[in-house]
Formats: sequence, C-alpha cells, structure tokens
Amino acid sequence: MEPLSSSGNGVADLIRVSDVAVASRDDVPAVARATRDCARVAGFGIEDAECVILAATELATNLAKYAAGGNIHISLMDDGARTVLQLESSDTGPGIPDTEQAMQDGFSTGGGLGAGLPGIRRLMDQFEITTSSDGTRVVARKWSSGR
Ligand SMILES: Nc1ncnc2c1ncn2[C@@H]1O[C@H](COP(=O)(O)OP(=O)(O)OP(=O)(O)O)[C@@H](O)[C@H]1O
Ligand SMILES: [Mg+2]
Repeated sequence: MEPLSSSGNGVADLIRVSDVAVASRDDVPAVARATRDCARVAGFGIEDAECVILAATELATNLAKYAAGGNIHISLMDDGARTVLQLESSDTGPGIPDTEQAMQDGFSTGGGLGAGLPGIRRLMDQFEITTSSDGTRVVARKWSSGR
C-alpha cells in the first residue's frame, strides 16, 4: 500500500488511535462503537460513517469466526490534505489459502454469504490483504469525502 503523506515522507499525522481486541462475536459491537467514534471525530458524513462501521464489523466478525480472535486497530490520520480512517485487522489464525477466491462474492468456508471481504473492498477506498499460515492482516482506508 502506498505511503500516506502528500508531503512525500510517508508519515501521516496521527490524530487518534483505538485498539480493540476481538476474542469472540461478543466483542464485535465494541469494534463498531470505536469505529463510529473515530468516524465522528473525522467528521465523516452519515454514509461514510456507515461504510467504515460496516467494514469494521465484517473484519471483526471474521476474526471471531475464522481466526479464533485477533485485533482491530483503528487509526485516524491527516495525510497532509485530508483525513483518512484506517482499519487494520490482524490475527495469528490459520490464514487464507486462496485470497483471490476469498475476495469473490459468495465464497465462504463458514456457511456465510461470502459478502464480507468483497464488501469491505467496495466500502473502503483502499484495501490490502496479506495472509500466510501465520495469520492474516487486512488494511483498509477511507478518506473523508472520498478519494
Ligand atoms: N481472518 C481470517 N482468517 C482466516 N480466514 C478468513 C479470515 N477472514 C476471512 N477468511 C476466509 O475468507 C472467506 C471469505 O470471507 P468473507 O468475510 O467474505 O465471507 P464469510 O465470512 O464466509 O461470510 P459473510 O462475511 O458474508 O458472513 C471466509 O469464508 C474464510 O474462509
Ligand atoms: Mg465475513
């Protein structure tokens, strides 16, 4: 994923961070709340706020479902021009054997709709997934008023 700063040094000013541990589905609402608070601070409109909250909810649900837990790191940054909200999901679960397949609408190994990951990609402005047998990391960003 490309560096954030428009000044070119790759460093964005951090406005706010929030970390939520996800051990089970019971922790998903806390992730949604933390993301909503961040979106509010960012001055996101209702639609953009709904997008990031839904994306965070899907990431957290996947952590509980497929990775036996993990962490959602929410950061709000100033890239020199605009505010960007970044969601980072990390886990030490089994990883995803075929990411291309997992990113397709309708693919699920857990009897779900298979709408989570492809949905997150559509809801956010940038999306990156890194996975191995050591775990999975997803980074997704959304800029205030689109990109
Ligand atoms: N953190 C993760 N660790 C391991 N596998 C994962 C992880 N997240 C997603 N996957 C795999 O990717 C597949 C697709 O995920 P996605 O969120 O799109 O669909 P789903 O969770 O199965 O269904 P839905 O999100 O629609 O309820 C999952 O079925 C699972 O196999
Ligand atoms: Mg899912």
